[in-house]
Amino acid sequence: MSDNRAIGVFDSGVGGLTVVRALLQRLPKEKIIYFGDTAHIPYGNKSREQLFQYAQAIISFLLEQDVKAIVVACGTHSSVTLPILQSQITIPILGVVKPGARAAVRCSQKQKIGVMATRATIESQAYVKEIKAINPAAEVYQTACTRLVPLIESGQLDGAETRRAVEDYTSPLLKEGIDTLIMGCTHYPFLAPVIKDCTGADICLLDPAAETSEELYRIMLERQIFSQREDLSQHEFYVSGNDQSFYQVGRKLLGNIIQQVEPVPMD
Ligand code: DGL
Repeated sequence: MSDNRAIGVFDSGVGGLTVVRALLQRLPKEKIIYFGDTAHIPYGNKSREQLFQYAQAIISFLLEQDVKAIVVACGTHSSVTLPILQSQITIPILGVVKPGARAAVRCSQKQKIGVMATRATIESQAYVKEIKAINPAAEVYQTACTRLVPLIESGQLDGAETRRAVEDYTSPLLKEGIDTLIMGCTHYPFLAPVIKDCTGADICLLDPAAETSEELYRIMLERQIFSQREDLSQHEFYVSGNDQSFYQVGRKLLGNIIQQVEPVPMD
């Protein structure tokens, strides 16, 4: 059995492209339909009600495109809305938090794990719960990194301001003696070189995207829904707001995989 329909992926902006990168490595024959909710970015300071409203609209859009599975490529939605969304739709839907927690517990020698994420993710305690569900003795230290998403969305992936912000957010975690640091917002792997500079090479810097792709691979194997496409047609990218900055910053990460970005107003 096979299924040539696309995989739907969404986030507030370019962050979820770090997940797309990993998906394309693990599942190179699959077509991606990506939605970046740039009209509502940043998600990290939104209420649960707002996040639910955005998620419902995006999921309806992706279902209209007839996707076969949805990857919530957003730490905030994976933490806040995913548990409810999972009960509402029949196709597979998965997020980045459970896989990220699993990979971190595996990586950490001392079971002292740091989490950098948005305010909404940190307040939900989702990473703490998932990590402690695997190892109740693990120690988890968290920082809400509110300055990072706007810097990334505006293409400031290096430079003094970005470095200062990363230093401010990582130093309290390092003082706690963590040996593993989860980039708990899908935007942050754009800053992995800067974060690595601040933490030093001994810290296991974890991007949940690879483990998320692995989980999707397992689900697709179980259901036998791999694509058998021979002509690997274009992936599709949609945004609800600014498409120009999405195109420019997105291409820094994915290159010409992003050919065109189509605006789809959501309000
Ligand atoms: N990339 C998203 C996340 O992983 C959203 C960040 C934001 O828009 O604040 O949380």
